[in-house]
Amino acid sequence: ASGGAQHAATSGPLLARVGGMDVVKRVVEAFYRKLYGNEKLLPFLHDRDIVYLRAKQSAFMSWLFGPPNVPYTGKHLRVAHLRIIKQRGFTPEDYELGMKYFEESMRELGAPEAIISEVLAKVRPFKDVIFTPCSRDAEEEA
Ligand code: HEM
Repeated sequence: ASGGAQHAATSGPLLARVGGMDVVKRVVEAFYRKLYGNEKLLPFLHDRDIVYLRAKQSAFMSWLFGPPNVPYTGKHLRVAHLRIIKQRGFTPEDYELGMKYFEESMRELGAPEAIISEVLAKVRPFKDVIFTPCSRDAEEEA
């Protein structure tokens, strides 16, 4: 089979098990194609800088597929999505659709099921972070 991801080991760093940075890049590509290809999600994305967004997403994915127990140090994800939540009505259902696309992207690129579950478990907590009001909301609105 191509890619070799199907034959990945069952323990050790996720990134190696999924097939390396090359596979992660292809997951990001596929994820973006799906997001931008959905007319319900496009209004949240059409005026964003796709190069910036992809660079940020790649950094996030590198952390996601990276070694366990490393804290997330990127931009607060509620702050990153606050404008589309407040000004364009981005909902948890919209976000779920994005998560579904992310899962599909990993699966289509041949990531083993065990890795998909592990990665999804690591992403899942962000949904509450993104949709729960917090003290930093004021910062963003200022
Ligand atoms: C940033 C939209 C799903 C992670 C952003 C930004 C927008 C956006 C508009 C800000 C871009 C800017 O500042 O110019 C969306 C839409 C989604 C979605 C429409 C559809 C469901 C997700 C998902 C994740 C995610 C599922 C994964 C947890 C991120 C990250 C950033 C970001 C890491 C960059 C934060 C930074 O600036 O470092 N997103 N997003 N997004 N989003 Fe999403």
